[in-house]
Amino acid sequence: MKKFIHDFTVLSNTRLNQKYFVLELHASAPLPRIEPGQFAAVLVPNPAEVFLRRPFSIHDVDFTKNTIKLFIKIVGKGTEALSQIQTGETLNLIYPLGKGFQIPRQSKILVVGGGCGIAPLLFLVHALHSKGIGCDILLGGHSADDLIIFEQFAKYGSIHLMTEDGSAGEKGLVTQHPLLGNSIIEFHTIFACGPTPMLKAISDLAARHYIECQVSLENTMACGIGACLCCVVKTTSGNRCVCTEGPVFDTKELAGWHQPMVKCDL
Ligand code: FES
Repeated sequence: MKKFIHDFTVLSNTRLNQKYFVLELHASAPLPRIEPGQFAAVLVPNPAEVFLRRPFSIHDVDFTKNTIKLFIKIVGKGTEALSQIQTGETLNLIYPLGKGFQIPRQSKILVVGGGCGIAPLLFLVHALHSKGIGCDILLGGHSADDLIIFEQFAKYGSIHLMTEDGSAGEKGLVTQHPLLGNSIIEFHTIFACGPTPMLKAISDLAARHYIECQVSLENTMACGIGACLCCVVKTTSGNRCVCTEGPVFDTKELAGWHQPMVKCDL
């Protein structure tokens, strides 16, 4: 899939809480085809301090307005600098990078997001909705702060929330939710993004019930184009770069993932 380098104008920078903000960006050229699950490498202003581009999942796309959104968690210098960007400023993006979710024609779908792993899933449920495919959406986090945008998801499916401290939805880990318990057999496909232990636990549950499962991995990335090999994951066909062969993988392709249940921290 062809990649582009475009300048985007910042239409808005919405601070959601201490941890998260959302950038709405207008492209200087018509947006190309973008798959849910793909990402962009963003050149952070002030390159003297932050040299490498930062990878962010494409959170949502509006092709009629020629805009994309990025949902970003503040974790270091790069994201802190981006959180300060003002309306009207310009950001340079390389996109769309990687391979996204493969959407079945029709299926009973469960979408599961944990922590900032919810970032690529809004575009996914938006795309499913546009194709007339309903879904259940299960979002989990440490607290309500991590689920601040759940109402955006509720437009596109049946929403279910879990938090570890019980401040939103049910108390506990997403993997303890009934949708991943007795109700899991109702689903044909599971899409998930979040911490690796959570994804491995979901992959294991899906495998036990012969359910298709695609996960978006959050491996550390540097170049984003398959050159530095820092994002490699073991697959059944050898080592693969998450930035070019993923970030979305069918869990059957991931070596050693269908193992006995692992402990999940989310
Ligand atoms: Fe450099 Fe994937 S981030 S190879």
